[in-house]
Amino acid sequence: MATHILETETMSDATNGEKHKTLLAWVEDVAQLCRPDRVYWCDGSDEEYQAMVRLMILAGTAIPLNEEKRPNSIYVRSSPADVARVEERTFICARTKEEAGPTNNWEDPAKMKALLEKLYAGSMAGRTMYVIPYSMGPIGSPIANIGVEISDSPYVVANMHIMARVGTRVLDVLGSNGEFVRGLHSLGAPLAPNEQDAAWPNNADEKYICHFPETREIWSYGSGYGGNALLGKKCHALRIASVQARDEGWLAEHMLILKLINPAGEAKYITGAFPSACGKTNLAMLIPTIPGWKVETVGDDIAWMKFGADGRLYAINPEYGFFGVAPGTSMKSNKNAMLTATKNSIFTNCAITPDRDVWWEGMTDEKPAELLDWLRRPWTPHSMHKAAHPNARFTTPARQCPVIAPEWEDPRGVPIDAILFGGRRAGVVPLVTEAFNWQHGTFLGATASSETTAAASGQVGQLRRDPMAMLPFCGYNMGDYFAHYLKIGEREGAKLPKIYYVNWFRTDDNGKFLWPGYGENSRVLKWVFERCDGTAHAIETPIGMLPQPADIDTKGLDIREEDLWTLLGIDVDGWLEEIPLIRDHFDKFGSHLPEGLSRELEELDHRLRQSITRTGKMSRFGKVSKLGQK
Ligand code: GTP
Ligand code: SPV
Ligand code: MN
Repeated sequence: MATHILETETMSDATNGEKHKTLLAWVEDVAQLCRPDRVYWCDGSDEEYQAMVRLMILAGTAIPLNEEKRPNSIYVRSSPADVARVEERTFICARTKEEAGPTNNWEDPAKMKALLEKLYAGSMAGRTMYVIPYSMGPIGSPIANIGVEISDSPYVVANMHIMARVGTRVLDVLGSNGEFVRGLHSLGAPLAPNEQDAAWPNNADEKYICHFPETREIWSYGSGYGGNALLGKKCHALRIASVQARDEGWLAEHMLILKLINPAGEAKYITGAFPSACGKTNLAMLIPTIPGWKVETVGDDIAWMKFGADGRLYAINPEYGFFGVAPGTSMKSNKNAMLTATKNSIFTNCAITPDRDVWWEGMTDEKPAELLDWLRRPWTPHSMHKAAHPNARFTTPARQCPVIAPEWEDPRGVPIDAILFGGRRAGVVPLVTEAFNWQHGTFLGATASSETTAAASGQVGQLRRDPMAMLPFCGYNMGDYFAHYLKIGEREGAKLPKIYYVNWFRTDDNGKFLWPGYGENSRVLKWVFERCDGTAHAIETPIGMLPQPADIDTKGLDIREEDLWTLLGIDVDGWLEEIPLIRDHFDKFGSHLPEGLSRELEELDHRLRQSITRTGKMSRFGKVSKLGQK
């Protein structure tokens, strides 16, 4: 290895000779441990991005897409062993297991570091070590947070260019002693002197995505994909930031941020927490089907919310791009995402057409006559398998979104009027429910459940509790996280958003979606908007405030009234069956479960039982009893 592994000139040039000693020392230490051939400080320039692209093309990692169809875009296929987040390999290494809580994998920080140091030793041999300074949030904004990711993957560098603000301008803000989150990422695929590199290097046997909340560190090993490797996203902006948010009295959430504008030109800002692959990107940029209404996008995956001087919660999107689910995205379902990803984008694990464009299931009604699938096999519409991996993704700059809100980079954030929680539930959970108050809303979020998706490795379609869509992303004890939510609600002078629980995914007996979803979700958003203004009607039910079919604007919507009643009805038996499940879920948190939430559960139970004895069977809530017999 070269004697001067550290090319410090790049950094001192960039910072007017000012050196960040702690950063330099850490980079030096990591280089000594991982033994790369070369160390490169990323400046964030377009030339640098192009250099990464060229490198990937030459190495066989990437294919340039058709310049006429997708200018400046590349196509990448990962290894089948590395296609999604690995939750069972994700650890919160807090001081004690109790601090990590019952929903996280835990290991003692010293033990985990000792184990990982063995794996990192020499793990970058034959590779370049990239130092990527990044800012989550607009550079220099008081709410932004700086991190430095060290990675041996050019794919990570290129993706970080799109997903975060990176490079020299971040070092400038960091100065000589600014604080930063340390992220160490290695593919865990060192190269022997004469060894040929893989197209998608990774470690098929060992993967670790580790967080050390006390020291604000991330150590990721063995995977090059998505949230496992782009450390600014889930690792920093959610797992580490949720700990910072708890300590400092704010919220770091797995939420989209949208601006909803009514025909009079009045705007409200709404955030929404749905689990991975449950509709955030789609909702964030939807095109309302109701005339005169408009949606603009602020963010599609993560929201940091802090109190303003006026007592309202202000949200920023800490990201710079979208890492969106490709399958199901089409000009019909999400035109704005399609238009965003027309250029300057990276497509991972989609299929490729003979004229070098991308394709995935659901993109077009008519399937291409032939393709190469994500596993490099010839594919035709008669093939029995999918052409794109279900977690195939596009990485694309947020500024290219045709409906990006002009204020999306406002360092002050946008004031939030409503928060939506949700998930994929085939039954029981209505289309929309309004919480009685903040504590009840916290209860709705804390008990939200959803069927698992391909965004994480493991079985798809398994129903699990995914509180606030944060199950895989909360960096501390989730019981304490619930308590933090309640504390936010008790803040003196707080003007809190209203909270809603939504479910776009109810199905009929044949498994067909009862609600058309996508752009039609604007009908629910409109009701939410008008509830915030106090102009829309709702009825009080045991589970919350619900619209009746007549309260939802269904003009021009082809939906059977019977289906609407199902979507907005209360399945009392179904809810009564939920009670013990929620109790089991809550029991896991022991003494960390805030009392306010156990009280909400008992009160829900009481209200449900009372509604039966009082009315026979729910006649007060529309035609529920009739539908109950179905
Ligand atoms: P992550 O990026 O993993 O956090 O996912 P996300 O929450 O942004 O999910 P996304 O919007 O990408 O949607 C995931 C899948 O759900 C896509 O295949 C969509 O087509 C589908 N989907 C989104 N919205 C709706 C909806 O309203 N109804 C139905 N039925 N499907 C939807
Ligand atoms: C998710 O899984 O929620 C994502 C994709 O947004 S990843 O960045 O891989 O976490
Ligand atoms: Mn996500």
